[in-house]
Amino acid sequence: MSRSFSRRALFGGAGLLAAGTVTACSDSSGRDGVTAAAAIVKFNGPHQAGIVTAQQDRLHFAAFNVVSKDRTELEELLRTWTAMARRMTRGQTAVDEDISEVGQHSVPQDTGEAYDLEPANLTLTIGFGPSLFDERFGFASARPAELEDLPKFAGDQLIGKLCGGDIAIQACSDNPQVAVHAIRNLARAGRGVVEYKWSQLGFGHASTTTREQQTPRNLFGFKDGTNNIKAEDTDLADEHIWVSGTNSWLDGGTFLITRRIRMLLENWDRQVLSDQEETFGRVKSSGAPLGRENEFDELPLDEYVGTSGPVIPLTAHARLASHQENGGARMLRRAYNFTDGIDDFGHMDAGLFFIAIVNSPAERFIPIQKKLAKSDKMNEYVRYESSAIFACPPGLADDNDWWGRGLFEATA
Ligand code: HEM
Repeated sequence: MSRSFSRRALFGGAGLLAAGTVTACSDSSGRDGVTAAAAIVKFNGPHQAGIVTAQQDRLHFAAFNVVSKDRTELEELLRTWTAMARRMTRGQTAVDEDISEVGQHSVPQDTGEAYDLEPANLTLTIGFGPSLFDERFGFASARPAELEDLPKFAGDQLIGKLCGGDIAIQACSDNPQVAVHAIRNLARAGRGVVEYKWSQLGFGHASTTTREQQTPRNLFGFKDGTNNIKAEDTDLADEHIWVSGTNSWLDGGTFLITRRIRMLLENWDRQVLSDQEETFGRVKSSGAPLGRENEFDELPLDEYVGTSGPVIPLTAHARLASHQENGGARMLRRAYNFTDGIDDFGHMDAGLFFIAIVNSPAERFIPIQKKLAKSDKMNEYVRYESSAIFACPPGLADDNDWWGRGLFEATA
């Protein structure tokens, strides 16, 4: 039996490199140059994959609560999860199991729906929520000062069961089935120790995190991600994304914030084009700032049209969120579109699952979200339905390292 069982090697696909032969050679986007054909993103590294990694097309995000009170059980699960994640991101089955050798009276340990699939750039990223730092596991003294539930912002209509969570895992892949398989198998291995709090599927990545990617569109039809931090901007990433100099388990990590934002598409779809463009301060077709030709032109924040006011309206989303109007604060956006069926009124339950990643929520997220909550013209067409925040530990040093090691060592 193959000890590092490769899914496609057995099921007749092109076959991936066996785990031991995956060569570390990633560019700044985190994509692995050597294994690009098999679309493998390197799992180990100074930062977790799935943050500045070129944003994949699909998301399965899950938040869990820990139901066990036993610190050792939690540690064992995190070690198991890391090993499984390492395997799955390399295109292997979740556990070391060859289905052709599983007895007819045994339960297969991998659920099987990704047997014949490439990992399609699968990344798995873990984060720990504020509630994990209560008295249960002895982590209270190691809670990062900024890891606090987000304040309730003006207009928030939060649905409690979709908020918070002790642990989050973000699975991103260019193949939705691969992302779902990963979360499903991790959740299955966690039974008795963790249980799902909520989860969200996303499609059509509504942001870009590298310059190579073409800016996609959100469900309002606007290009989204133009002025995002890109993986190539390593200085900006160091300044705004990665936690450093705290001498804590979080150095090299970051904070990940999620907001499920329902779009009132039936209202939006009735608005004339000029109103839609004024909402964002950008041209719908090209993505250019109003008053400019090209998508990547600077926002003309100080220009006026005769006496009729600023070219970019004072309530335009792009103006209010811009670093120029927020003391230089920036965030990394990794949002996804979602549609979750139809509500009781026959309206689409659809929108943007917004993900922001920053090294200081207090400096780079909360003030901007407050400002948007108060004045964003977009508020006429959206409803904020969930909020969560997680501290994501740094990346894994080598194949013996595991998710949460630093936190456990800091509180041993
Ligand atoms: C349904 C919700 C949202 C939609 C449809 C949306 C859409 C957009 C669009 C179309 C742009 C302009 C293009 C670009 O630079 O990417 C933009 C920019 C931006 N948005 Fe949002 N956004 C949403 C929510 C949020 C939230 C909740 C935040 C933060 C709290 C945020 C922060 C930003 C930032 C920082 C920029 C870049 C501004 C700049 O520097 O030019 N967005 N958004």
